[in-house]
Amino acid sequence: MAIKRICKYGEKILAKKARKVEAQELKRILPGIISDMFETLDAVGGVGLAANQIGLDLCLAVIKIKKEEEEDLRIVLINPELTEKSGVMTGEEGCLSLPGLFARIKRFSKVKVRALNEKGLPIEVNAEGLFSRALQHEIDHLDGILFIDRLPFMTRLKLKPALMKLKRRWKKMDESKLPRGKEAGM
Ligand code: NI
Repeated sequence: MAIKRICKYGEKILAKKARKVEAQELKRILPGIISDMFETLDAVGGVGLAANQIGLDLCLAVIKIKKEEEEDLRIVLINPELTEKSGVMTGEEGCLSLPGLFARIKRFSKVKVRALNEKGLPIEVNAEGLFSRALQHEIDHLDGILFIDRLPFMTRLKLKPALMKLKRRWKKMDESKLPRGKEAGM
């Protein structure tokens, strides 16, 4: 198990649609990758992480949502697909690939997602609230889309100076060298 460096905004892999995971990869390579992804997520205190964020061209994401009175929700999504969506919600979003940057993003309020779990079995999840937002954010990552791509042009333009300033800081960031971080995002 290892904490991985997270790719930052501007790195090409983040803008590329991820390759579908194939059946023979499930047992061979995924268990190690999935545990590294959860470890990385725990180390930075994030909600979700897509494989391309740690430099792997694989259609795979993990989500972890803290629950107050029950066990944390931990889910592995292999080749996920958004099959149903409805409603609208707007809320603040961040991303581990753009740490320190937050913006209000419009999302579907309810979604249904089909995927394979870590055992390669088909699953279907219905989500709303933060879970729904996280699912849409991670599926976007796997399609090469970042949350700022969802912003209206003028808002993105206004964010540009902050983005440029943060970019200099991101160059020096390497999560694999940090025992525990404090920044939260997706
Ligand atoms: Ni993200």
